[in-house]
Amino acid sequence: RFIKSLTTSPSSHIVRRGYASEAVPERKVTVLGAAGGIGQPLSLLMKLNPLVSNLALYDIANTPGVAADVSHINTRSEVVGYASDAELGKALEGADVVIIPAGVPRKPGMTRDDLFNINAGIVKGLCEAIAKHCPNALVNMISNPVNSTVPIAAEVFKKAGTYDPKRLFGVTTLDVVRAKTFYAGKAMVPVAEVNVPVVGGHAGITILPLFSQATPKANLSDEVITALTKRTQDGGTEVVEAKAGKGSATLSMAYAGAIFADACLKGLNGVPDVIECSFVQSTVTELPFFASRVRLGKNGVEEVLGLGPLSDFEKEGLEKLKPELKSSIEKGIKFATQ
Ligand code: NAI
Repeated sequence: RFIKSLTTSPSSHIVRRGYASEAVPERKVTVLGAAGGIGQPLSLLMKLNPLVSNLALYDIANTPGVAADVSHINTRSEVVGYASDAELGKALEGADVVIIPAGVPRKPGMTRDDLFNINAGIVKGLCEAIAKHCPNALVNMISNPVNSTVPIAAEVFKKAGTYDPKRLFGVTTLDVVRAKTFYAGKAMVPVAEVNVPVVGGHAGITILPLFSQATPKANLSDEVITALTKRTQDGGTEVVEAKAGKGSATLSMAYAGAIFADACLKGLNGVPDVIECSFVQSTVTELPFFASRVRLGKNGVEEVLGLGPLSDFEKEGLEKLKPELKSSIEKGIKFATQ
C-alpha cells in the first residue's frame, strides 16, 4: 500500500528522504545496451519507475548523450552512464536487476537464429561480467535469440559458480503484450482487462499463446484462434518488415521490458502475487528451459506455474514447438561450453 501511495505522490523528494525511503528500498537497475533502439526508450521508462533509486546505463557507443538526456528527468533515480568496457564493472556493481538489450536486431528475411553468431558472443561477455560484479542480480535477457541466449547465460554462470536458476529470465513479455492486443481486437473486449498466457519459447512457432485461457472469455471461432496464434508468432516479423531494414521492435519491446523489470522489482520488494510469463529453467516439460507463467518474489522465481488445461490446437502446437526449442537450447549450451 505504501508503494502504491508513493507512485502517485506528486513529490519525488518524498521518495528520497524521511520515513518513506525506509518503505521503498533502494534498487539499482543496470541496462546493458542502453543507447540502442530498445535501450533508449527502455532507459526512459526505467527512469519513470519510482521503484528504481539508481539507474546505470551502459553501452559501447553513445552512452554519455543518452545518460545526460535521461538524467535531466525529475524522477527519483540517479542516472549514471558508463561508456566503455573498462567501466562495465562499475555499471554492474550492486545491481539488483540487469536488463540486457545489447546486440544486433533482425533485418527483413532474417530469423532470430540468424543473429546467433554475433549476439551469442556479446551475451557471453556481458554475463561473465555479471558473474563477477553482481552475481546476485536478477538478469532480464532481451537479446535474441532468447531461446539460445538464456541457456548461454546459464552456462556462463555455471562455469563461474554463480548460477541460480531463480535469477535468470528470458524476456518474452512482448509476446504476451502482442497476444493481449490482438485478442482484444477480435474479442471486442477492453484491452486493459485482457490476460493471455504465452508459453514455449521466443521465436516463430516456439511462441505458443494459450488463447483457450484468455480472459475475459470470448467465443472465437477456430479460424480466428488460428489467425491470432499466427499473428502473435509472427508479430516480430510484422515489425521487421514494416521497418524495412531499420531494425526490429524497439518501442513495444521497451514497454514490455519495462513491465517485466517492474514485476521483478515488485517481487524483490515483497509485493505478493506478482505473476508474469518468462523463459526460465523449468520442469514444466521435458525441456530444460521453457516459458510459462512464473510467480516472482524476493529471490526471483518463487514458483514456475504449470500450463493449465490446453485445447487440442494448443496441445498440437506444444508438440510441434518442442524439437525447434530443444535444438535452440542445445545450440546455446554448445556455444557456451566449447
Ligand atoms: P540496436 O542495434 O538498436 O541496439 C543494440 C545496442 O547494443 C547498440 O546501442 C549497441 O552499441 C549495443 N551493444 C552492442 N554490443 C554491446 C556490448 N558488448 N555491450 C553493450 N552494448 C552493446 O538493437 P535493438 O533494436 O535495440 O535490439 C537489441 C536486441 O534485442 C536484439 O538482439 C534484438 O533481436 C532483441 N530483441 C528482443 C526482443 C524480445 O522480445 N526479447 C524484441 C525485439 C528485439
